[in-house]
Amino acid sequence: MKNALDALAGRAGTITVRAFHRDPGWVTLEVRDTGSGVDPEIRDQLFEPGTTTKSGGWGVGLALAKRIVEEIHGGRIDLVGTGSNGTVFQLRLPSRLPEIAAQKSASL
Ligand SMILES: Nc1ncnc2c1ncn2[C@@H]1O[C@H](COP(=O)(O)OP(=O)(O)O)[C@@H](O)[C@H]1O
Ligand SMILES: [Mg+2]
Repeated sequence: MKNALDALAGRAGTITVRAFHRDPGWVTLEVRDTGSGVDPEIRDQLFEPGTTTKSGGWGVGLALAKRIVEEIHGGRIDLVGTGSNGTVFQLRLPSRLPEIAAQKSASL
């Protein structure tokens, strides 16, 4: 979300966050912005620590996000599209819906 905001760089634009079930057992969270797009020069190392195009940037946001999503949640994070019209990232997380449904019916 912060990266999406940064990518708008003070211009008018839109950030859209959606959550959806596409694949059984997974929840997909999508963050879409109409910002500048990811610089082609860093696309291959986007999730590596220290990759930044911002003055004063740390380049740890996406590296940390990837580690949390993969190692703690067993999910994945991907850049699914980027260009002059903006950028789309998706996080896929294992869905706990069956587990939650079971807990609910057990507590009735
Ligand atoms: N939504 C986005 N739109 C355009 N570029 C992005 C976006 N998200 C990330 N980036 C690029 O990836 C780099 C790394 O992001 P991040 O790991 O969060 O570090 P930081 O924000 O400190 O630079 C950013 O500097 C930027 O160039
Ligand atoms: Mg960041």
